[in-house]
Amino acid sequence: MNAGTASTLGRELSTVEFWSQPSWARTAVFSELRARAPVTFQPPPNFGVVTAQQGYWAVTRHVDVMAISRQPDIFCSGGGISFEDQPIEMLEMASSFIVMDAPRHTALRRVVSSAFTPRQIAKLDAAITARAAEIVAELVAQRGGDAVGDLAAKLPLWTISEMMGVPESMRADMYDQVQILVDSQLGARRADETAEDPGPLTAQFQAAMSLAAMAAELAAAKRAHPSDDVMSALANAELDGALLSDSQLGGIFLLFAVAGSDTTQNSTSFGISAFSDHPEQWARMRGNVGAFINTAVEEILRWASPVIQFRRTATRDVELGHQTIAEGDHVVIFYESANRDDQVFVEPNHFDMMRNPNPHFAFGGGGPHFCLGANLARAQLRALFRHLAESVIELHGGEPTYIASNFVNGVRHLPLEVVPA
Ligand code: HEM
Repeated sequence: MNAGTASTLGRELSTVEFWSQPSWARTAVFSELRARAPVTFQPPPNFGVVTAQQGYWAVTRHVDVMAISRQPDIFCSGGGISFEDQPIEMLEMASSFIVMDAPRHTALRRVVSSAFTPRQIAKLDAAITARAAEIVAELVAQRGGDAVGDLAAKLPLWTISEMMGVPESMRADMYDQVQILVDSQLGARRADETAEDPGPLTAQFQAAMSLAAMAAELAAAKRAHPSDDVMSALANAELDGALLSDSQLGGIFLLFAVAGSDTTQNSTSFGISAFSDHPEQWARMRGNVGAFINTAVEEILRWASPVIQFRRTATRDVELGHQTIAEGDHVVIFYESANRDDQVFVEPNHFDMMRNPNPHFAFGGGGPHFCLGANLARAQLRALFRHLAESVIELHGGEPTYIASNFVNGVRHLPLEVVPA
């Protein structure tokens, strides 16, 4: 293990206070790190509810985040993907192949990737578009509301439920359990947490168990009566000559529900906030949605950076950014920082819906773990912002309330008034 460098730059990254600020308040620290110490060793994080035994390398530049993401043999995921140390069995139960390395990762990802081909997404697209139209119409009818609860939160889990073939009767419970799981993974003490809370790891475990049980029940039903959905395909898929086990199916179900829900939701909320702050860009977007929707969605993703970071573990000694990373060291790649790197993005702290090219890392820095749901998320964002542009002349966002987290860039509430077209 590496003893680390003497630099004190970036020490705040290991404190709960730093992650309790909104992302825009963190940009100066990341900007200084990228310029002066792009790869630094930091003390073990102390996030109140989450502690880790060892320090970690903080990697902040776009070029280094990309290099690490694309060398999974040197920077593996199987040692864990977050700051804290959790038993690997527990991680696999809750997060499936995102915490695995080749060849197990490759094999499981291959089984599920058929659900995410452009053809499959195109099949879902009509349903997503129709649902997005309903959501926007409801928002417009009430002249606004909470951009999170009344808009952003409605599409993502609905889309995953449709895709997986989750029956209506299961959905409310599924949504509740996913919310508990997402909240417990925030990695920073919630402002509203009380001493009576069972603690995030217990809550996480209980929610994971009940979602896994739901997945097993669903899989049994789909084996008996298969239909044209992803759970039917997974329940009947074979890996190494055998059907996937209940625990494998549970992990995949959880991974999809968690990875695909608040990420897409938070992108929408940040997008609304950005357009509300830039009425001139909204007017331009409304003038020609077809011309701007694709670049706008990419810029929303860069701007939101819904996943702040993931961790890797070095499998051998390696040089990076003039530092020697030792075998076993934890390496945290900050997508939030890479997405504001001025070596790659002109005026990175400016929201520009026409930014092109836009090689952001909202979905990861490339490599084998690159987000499987990227096109599904893009389809949802396109549908929502297209309908909004067609039916809303002006967006007036109030003061957002942010989620305190070192993992998820999130908006908890955003008051919104809309002026209908
Ligand atoms: C805006 C929305 C989303 C964002 C920002 C996002 C971001 C990410 C990131 C950063 C990773 C890790 C990449 C890496 O380690 O290289 C990831 C992985 C993943 N995401 Fe997404 N995601 C989004 C939506 C979705 C959706 C809708 C799904 C659908 C189920 C999904 C499923 C997955 C899966 C399965 C993985 C693991 C891939 C692997 O390990 O091979 N994501 N995502």
